Amino acid sequence: MNTRFAVSSLITILIATTMVQAQDIKLPQPQSSRNTLQVSEALAKRHSVREYSHKELSIQDLSDLCWAACGQSRDKDHITAPTAMNRQEIRLYVFDRNGAYEYLPAKNVLKLVATGDNRRLVAGGKAFSQDFVLDAPLSLVMVIDFEKFGSTGQRALMMGCVDAGNVSENVNLFCEAAGMVTVPRATMDIEGIRALLGLSENQLPILNNPVGYPKE
Ligand SMILES: Cc1cc2nc3c(=O)[nH]c(=O)nc-3n(C[C@H](O)[C@H](O)[C@H](O)COP(=O)(O)O)c2cc1C
Repeated sequence: MNTRFAVSSLITILIATTMVQAQDIKLPQPQSSRNTLQVSEALAKRHSVREYSHKELSIQDLSDLCWAACGQSRDKDHITAPTAMNRQEIRLYVFDRNGAYEYLPAKNVLKLVATGDNRRLVAGGKAFSQDFVLDAPLSLVMVIDFEKFGSTGQRALMMGCVDAGNVSENVNLFCEAAGMVTVPRATMDIEGIRALLGLSENQLPILNNPVGYPKE
């Protein structure tokens, strides 16, 4: 086999592997009773971290993380984060090297929405960007879905912001308790993310959390 042929075959295999990875991800059952720090200890220790190991999150940690953020809790009508009037209007997206996915709590699935590495959109826009976000293996992005409120008025915006904060704080505390690190962020390319995810004008990216393991 000549060298040029071998290299081109290798590139083809690598591209094919990358394409295969970008598909819906069925998450393992979340461990709602996993061994973590106590809530009071996590509250005392929680802090923002902007440096990450390049190690990918394990699939179990990813499942537990999404569940902690806004997964189904005591029954099928409730999620781990409280939301105004139980509207559950915060959509959660995962951005990683392979694609952008929407978390579907009832199915425990990450549904592929866009292929490719779009974490730069989470890092920021033209005016301001924070490149440390690219060091995190993934970022969670919270989107307010005003269609679930039936309103885009000021009160709906207030409730949406509060509810996104609840989801983000679940992530902050869970990361501290379970050996991951994160920082809540408002900086991101809102219009770029809207376009990538095919969001309507009634859906607003509002907060994000890059997540990884602590840098060695
Ligand atoms: C709504 C909100 C938006 C934030 N946006 C950013 C951001 O865009 N970039 C960033 O590096 N940190 C951001 N932070 C993190 C804060 O800077 C951080 O929480 C604060 O300095 C307190 O530090 P601590 O989290 O370690 O207690 C944000 C925090 C909140 C609550």
